[in-house]
Amino acid sequence: MKSLRLQRAGLYTKGFNCLGDCGTDHGKLPIYCVEQGFVKKAYASDNKEGPLDNAVKNIQDKGLQNKVIPLLADGLVYLNEEIDVVSILGMGGRMIVSILKTADLSHVKRLILIANSENFLLRDFLEQAEWLIIAEELIKENGKFYQLLILEKGLMNLSNIEKEFGPFIIKEKSENFEEMLKLLLKKLIVAKLEAKSDSAKKKIETRIKELEEVLM
Ligand SMILES: C[S@@+](CC[C@H](N)C(=O)[O-])C[C@H]1O[C@@H](n2cnc3c(N)ncnc32)[C@H](O)[C@@H]1O
Repeated sequence: MKSLRLQRAGLYTKGFNCLGDCGTDHGKLPIYCVEQGFVKKAYASDNKEGPLDNAVKNIQDKGLQNKVIPLLADGLVYLNEEIDVVSILGMGGRMIVSILKTADLSHVKRLILIANSENFLLRDFLEQAEWLIIAEELIKENGKFYQLLILEKGLMNLSNIEKEFGPFIIKEKSENFEEMLKLLLKKLIVAKLEAKSDSAKKKIETRIKELEEVLM
């Protein structure tokens, strides 16, 4: 499989029984996890027929109909006792929160998440819902940065900056992280030059300082 983002996410299903991949679209993640023998079985679910048709075709092409089950479903309404690991990748953080909020996660031991946006909101919810981040990666794919979050049940207490960028990601200070923050800083410097009022300028200065401290 070509996608580094999906490869890295898939690795964290290793040793689990059955994956529920919500918002599967093409179904590449559950297909990969079953093909690699990371899980015995997987559900590939999507709430739209078009994307699910792509998954059905890919599952058939690989002859995995008995092991990867396509499902037309909104969110995670289909969770059952055999599904012990759940992935939701490629949606906004707010949408992921709303799916997790309404799901019965009592049999789920691990969550694998990538939000395209609103990571602060997502980590804030996960902290309150008593999910603990056990690993994180900042992945760059096609010029975009993706925060991969791996969680198991437990307590955490994150600062605001950790909710935004991730405690493991901040600690690791990878090349990707430095590149991402330097890009953010560049944009802020331009915004500061263009700021119309002193208060707007001050706000941007505070944010610049905050990001510079994270980089140190
Ligand atoms: C951008 S794609 C991501 C595909 C794949 N997970 C990935 O990361 O490459 C998002 C998919 O989520 C599906 N989706 C959005 N809201 C959903 C929901 N509430 N329940 C299930 N699927 C949903 C969309 O139909 C779409 O196929």
